[in-house]
Amino acid sequence: MARLSALLLACFCATLLIPSTCVAKLPQKHAALFVFGDSLFDAGNNVFINAPTANFWPYGETFFKHPTGRISDGRIVPDFIAEYANLPLIKPYLQPGFDDYTDGVNFASAAAGVLPGTHPGAIYLKLQLSYFEEVARKLKQQLGGAEAKKLLAKAVYLFSIGGNDYMTITRNQSNALTSSYRKKYMTMVLANFTTVIEKVYKTGGRKFGFQNLGPLGCMPATKASLGINSDCAHEPTVIAKMHNIALPKLLKMIQQQLPGFKYALYDYYTALAERTLYATKFGLKVGKSACCGSGAYNGELTCGGKNGTVKFELCSNPSEYVWFDAAHPTESANRQLANLFWSGPPNITGPYNLKKLFNML
Ligand SMILES: *[C@@H]1O[C@H](CO)[C@@H](O)[C@H](O)[C@H]1NC(C)=O
Ligand SMILES: *[C@@H]1O[C@H](CO)[C@@H](O)[C@H](O)[C@H]1NC(C)=O
Ligand SMILES: *[C@@H]1O[C@H](CO)[C@@H](O)[C@H](O)[C@H]1NC(C)=O
Ligand SMILES: *[C@@H]1O[C@H](CO)[C@@H](O)[C@H](O)[C@H]1NC(C)=O
Repeated sequence: MARLSALLLACFCATLLIPSTCVAKLPQKHAALFVFGDSLFDAGNNVFINAPTANFWPYGETFFKHPTGRISDGRIVPDFIAEYANLPLIKPYLQPGFDDYTDGVNFASAAAGVLPGTHPGAIYLKLQLSYFEEVARKLKQQLGGAEAKKLLAKAVYLFSIGGNDYMTITRNQSNALTSSYRKKYMTMVLANFTTVIEKVYKTGGRKFGFQNLGPLGCMPATKASLGINSDCAHEPTVIAKMHNIALPKLLKMIQQQLPGFKYALYDYYTALAERTLYATKFGLKVGKSACCGSGAYNGELTCGGKNGTVKFELCSNPSEYVWFDAAHPTESANRQLANLFWSGPPNITGPYNLKKLFNML
């Protein structure tokens, strides 16, 4: 609220001096950040609902020094993006009392998928969209239609979604995962995803950032649950790659249909897979096992001991690890991953990177 009142005050002063120039309530260079997605982007929404969260030690131990609901030892990718864009940390939509949306909002929810059935209880993508539409309505009330429209068009909309949808079908052993089943499922996921992208555009969004699916088959959690001795499990790898091949084609199509639609597509898969397999090449020490958890590769999601009820291992220096728990990167990996989303070359993040999208006003 403080920031908004300061901006309104600035406007009021400007009105006294030159009455006709009370237009730029928000600084010219200001671009907000709206975050949609799953556990990789959840900054604490799930703390306030009955859904998986990590609101207990040792989550949050390195940067925040207390748990925040982020599923990492410290910051996650949207936190670094906000920093690079000169924004404060973007707050979770469900945080009580939070209603100044001028810097943006985070709608992401751990365990969420594109499809509502992926994890009942988490905030699935269409529900995140409806929260965003509510935010857009409130911005119009607070700032007026013209100013809100400007804010929404300048803002960047970040997405990390789909991994949980595909993990659901690879976990279900009774599914014969034929290629036609996979394809049908993917088509359904992408069709629903497209609807959400189009609605954000319709509400005024123009600048989008997508990270593709991470290496689902190479996560410590997947290797442990499937009892895999190799670096990556076959089935989840196939399905993640299939989605990641379809996504750029889909985005090109959307771009052709929606005037002014601009996007950054980040090859998160390659960035995270390389670090998992060759950690030392990236200044990290351990890529194949998690810092926190139990069992093979610390691949069981027991980090924090389910709040003190289960035994687990915790490494002494998370900054040497790629994975904090069995399915979520450490802050030090997240910083590297965010850097590539922000300013990576076109073969990693393209056609725009986030830095270019933020600077395009
Ligand atoms: C698992 O797959 C079977 C066969 O396709 C289906 O009937 C069942 O609903 C699925 N279960 C879950 C939890 O997705
Ligand atoms: C979205 O997903 C549902 C299943 O949850 C499916 O019935 C529907 O056809 C999908 N497509 C679109 C465009 O919504
Ligand atoms: C964890 O346990 C402590 C007490 O041992 C309790 O105060 C706290 O609410 C619990 N947190 C969660 C997220 O269950
Ligand atoms: C991207 O291009 C750079 C050279 O500009 C190269 O060093 C790097 O290996 C490429 N990365 C990928 C993932 O292709």
